[in-house]
Amino acid sequence: MAAVIAITSGKGGVGKTNIAANLGVALARHAKVCVFDADTGLANINLLLKIEPEFTLKHVIQGEKTIQDILIQAPGDIWVVPAASGVQSCVDLSEQQRKKLTEALAELERQFDYILVDTAAGCHQDVLYFVASSQYRVFVMTPEPTSLTDTFSLLKILRNYGVKRNLFVLVNRVENYRKSQKVFFYFQKAVDKYLHLKVNFLGYLVEDSALKSAVKNQKPVILARPDSSVSCCLYALADIIKKQFKNERRRPYFSHFWKKYAVPLKAEKSRHLNSAIPLEQNDEQEPIVKMMLMVSDETFSKQQFQDLMAQLGDVYRKRFGTGYFGDSEALLEKIYQLLNQKI
Ligand SMILES: Nc1ncnc2c1ncn2[C@@H]1O[C@H](COP(=O)(O)OP(=O)(O)OP(=O)(O)O)[C@@H](O)[C@H]1O
Ligand SMILES: [Mg+2]
Repeated sequence: MAAVIAITSGKGGVGKTNIAANLGVALARHAKVCVFDADTGLANINLLLKIEPEFTLKHVIQGEKTIQDILIQAPGDIWVVPAASGVQSCVDLSEQQRKKLTEALAELERQFDYILVDTAAGCHQDVLYFVASSQYRVFVMTPEPTSLTDTFSLLKILRNYGVKRNLFVLVNRVENYRKSQKVFFYFQKAVDKYLHLKVNFLGYLVEDSALKSAVKNQKPVILARPDSSVSCCLYALADIIKKQFKNERRRPYFSHFWKKYAVPLKAEKSRHLNSAIPLEQNDEQEPIVKMMLMVSDETFSKQQFQDLMAQLGDVYRKRFGTGYFGDSEALLEKIYQLLNQKI
């Protein structure tokens, strides 16, 4: 029975598709691996693996093809399920179509040891479904601040939908292990403190130009340059996954979710939690984390934002002897506008 692993992210373009394909190839040395392409975006796995699927999951759901008909064997001995065009319609299925989908997923779970689900970025309903229906969730992030805040937002929404377990962070595009640890601990601290969730460090991938060249040549880097630094990281990751990610219950997980729960997801609580994170008096710990939280939240008022900025100013003044953003109304206004645009 397959272990189903969602490869997801809050922010786009952080390396999910490359990770799904290359990890797939690394795992396929000792196991049967399927990459389930659930990304409806353009830069998808077809380009990376130079495959051109004629049929997709949509044809299976519509009863025109079987899951075996649409599976494509790709370089590195992995199998790809071209699901992207089917995924969009997965939310509103008739009884008959849902039956077809769950049968197809159950078949995949029986046939493979690992199913790596390459999702789109962000908080769209179908992304949430695929993350929720997977046993293990790997959140890919880079050291960019926006990658951290977007991952935080995604986790927060998932938590409100009851997804709280088996959360793993993979830090991509870093110089080395130490840097990845720094990024992870910073993030973990915020997640622990404000979301009360446990995220685990899965591993890291170095920034490597070999990966970029491989993408240009439409080949997984692990096949194009098995000796590269990033390939070494990928092999190490595959070993970690082999040890940690198993379907221990030996029960279907993926298909079971779609059979039972794939009706529009209901949040356990309101999506809009406390939008302003109160800064306690004399709290000098990581004020910027609080800033991140506020920015990652869906709504916050101008007054809440200004209050927080003023409090952060006090903390920085105490710490460094100067308020780094001074008292300029115009600057505050500008930052507030930029953050609101982002949201
Ligand atoms: N470790 C790395 N070293 C160098 N470049 C990288 C690395 N990881 C990702 N990239 C660059 O980022 C690009 C985007 O990667 P990829 O398409 O896998 O991201 P994605 O998260 O799947 O994107 P999307 O959200 O659009 O689906 C790659 O084409 C490559 O140029
Ligand atoms: Mg992608």
